Amino acid sequence: MSESPPPPPSWSITGMANNAVQFLRLPVIASSGLAVVASGLLYFKQNELIYPRNIPADARTNVPKPRQFGITNYEELQIPTPDGESLHALFIRPTRKGVASNVTVLMFHGNAGNIGHRIPIARVMQDVLGCNVFMLEYRGYGLSTGVPDEAGLKIDAQTALDYLRQRAETSNTKFVVYGQSLGGAVSINLVAENEDKGDIKGLILENTFLSIRKLIPTVFPPARYLARFCHQYWTSEEVLPKITKIPILFLSGLKDEIVPPSNMTQLFAICQSERKVWRTLPNGAHNDSVAEPGYFEHIHSFVKEEVVGDDQ
Ligand SMILES: *[C@@H]1O[C@H](CO)[C@@H](O)[C@H](O)[C@H]1NC(C)=O
Ligand SMILES: *[C@@H]1O[C@H](CO)[C@@H](O)[C@H](O)[C@H]1NC(C)=O
Ligand SMILES: *[C@@H]1O[C@H](CO)[C@@H](O)[C@H](O)[C@H]1NC(C)=O
Repeated sequence: MSESPPPPPSWSITGMANNAVQFLRLPVIASSGLAVVASGLLYFKQNELIYPRNIPADARTNVPKPRQFGITNYEELQIPTPDGESLHALFIRPTRKGVASNVTVLMFHGNAGNIGHRIPIARVMQDVLGCNVFMLEYRGYGLSTGVPDEAGLKIDAQTALDYLRQRAETSNTKFVVYGQSLGGAVSINLVAENEDKGDIKGLILENTFLSIRKLIPTVFPPARYLARFCHQYWTSEEVLPKITKIPILFLSGLKDEIVPPSNMTQLFAICQSERKVWRTLPNGAHNDSVAEPGYFEHIHSFVKEEVVGDDQ
């Protein structure tokens, strides 16, 4: 695939991303300090390691609002899950027409913080693509109820997709699923489970891992001898190859210090989708790849060429 042409002069993706990065001070995967605190209790405390929903300390109560980032056309939602939780979510409408006016991007966040911290990403996304953006806060995060675990997050992702399928405004749009880090694992699972429905038209993966078990020895070092007791699996390397038709964009920050970029290379290698696109951010680290030049250009051309295709 070729690079996309330069964006029209009325907007600058890189400029918007630069504005966004100043709000992205939190790690997508938080590692430092945590493992030490919890090492002895890993088996019972591993959820606190893998899902650090209290980082930063006020992440359960202080969820930034779209208005703080200049977004006015949005709805704040609480969506019930079949097992009795209530998920906080944002539905953001586009401010301009773009290549993807008939697209809804479903965003799945990394393992720290809350959706409010990612609003700058949503803002650039809807501006660059002219799409709807739906941001889901997993159970136990931000203003959602409950406690996170693998089974629960899978229910949450399905709940979000089912919500968009029945919402009048989005039921006739193409869905693009976008996940960063842990959100990549959530996305892979959701897309594999729903491929046969035909309404997911694209998957975008950023800096995600092969499986949690493979991550534990290096990302949570004090826990390395306990990896075999790990009860959170997120086996993306087993699930990803089940996706065969939906186009997939791999965005890999080559300076990722937390998930080695070779995990992304390997995921790309085992991907069986008919359409897969590999793009790197040469200076992208784990939690700032989104602010690297080219990031949103790659998303723009992927959506234009692989998702919207002939019917724009
Ligand atoms: C990324 O996270 C690390 C902590 O893991 C932090 O030190 C760094 O400042 C963060 N970078 C950005 C650009 O937010
Ligand atoms: C939007 O996409 C859906 C699914 O591909 C399609 O059924 C619908 O006709 C499209 N709507 C418009 C306005 O293009
Ligand atoms: C994936 O990342 C883990 C965690 O750092 C590492 O131990 C493993 O070797 C990596 N695997 C590949 C194939 O890159």
